[in-house]
Amino acid sequence: MYSTVLTLHSIFRWLVLLSLCYAIFRAYKGYTSKSDFSFLDNKVRHWTATIAHVQLTLGILVYVKSPIIKYYFSDFKNLVANWNLTFFGLFHFILMIGAIVLITIGSAKAKRKKTATEKFRTILVMYSIAFVLILIAIPWPFSPLASRPYIRTF
Ligand code: HEM
Repeated sequence: MYSTVLTLHSIFRWLVLLSLCYAIFRAYKGYTSKSDFSFLDNKVRHWTATIAHVQLTLGILVYVKSPIIKYYFSDFKNLVANWNLTFFGLFHFILMIGAIVLITIGSAKAKRKKTATEKFRTILVMYSIAFVLILIAIPWPFSPLASRPYIRTF
């Protein structure tokens, strides 16, 4: 179960990044060209948030199943200084939750906005900040914070 969820979590990271990139690109194009907020723009807004929520669910599952997290909290006072454990125990968790909250609020606010310009601007700002947070909190193989493979396979 744990290794399956971890692999799904690793793979889904690419869907999160791809959907965010596409949503930000469409919002930038729509905002700068003052175009209408189309049916597809609305679908992209919605599916980007849905994909982030699936990744959140996978993240919570891997968090409660992870032997690393269990070990971390078994002796928190002594292990909090171990950055690699604190990365997954706190840093990754808090930044990713923050990013997903921004995507959720951005999606809901854009839906309620009256004009296309306001909708595009809301998505552009909220999804871009979330994108930067996610890039920082992903344990890339080259990351000085914590490194993991680009992708896991079953
Ligand atoms: C957009 C949101 C997120 C992205 C893109 C993301 C991405 C990743 C990636 C790429 C890894 C490394 C997987 C590997 O070892 O190959 C990882 C590990 C992990 N993630 Fe996330 N994550 C996100 C949200 C979350 C959330 C919200 C939580 C907790 C509630 C979480 C908990 C964890 C844990 C505990 C690990 C390490 C598990 C272990 O090695 O035992 N993630 N995440």
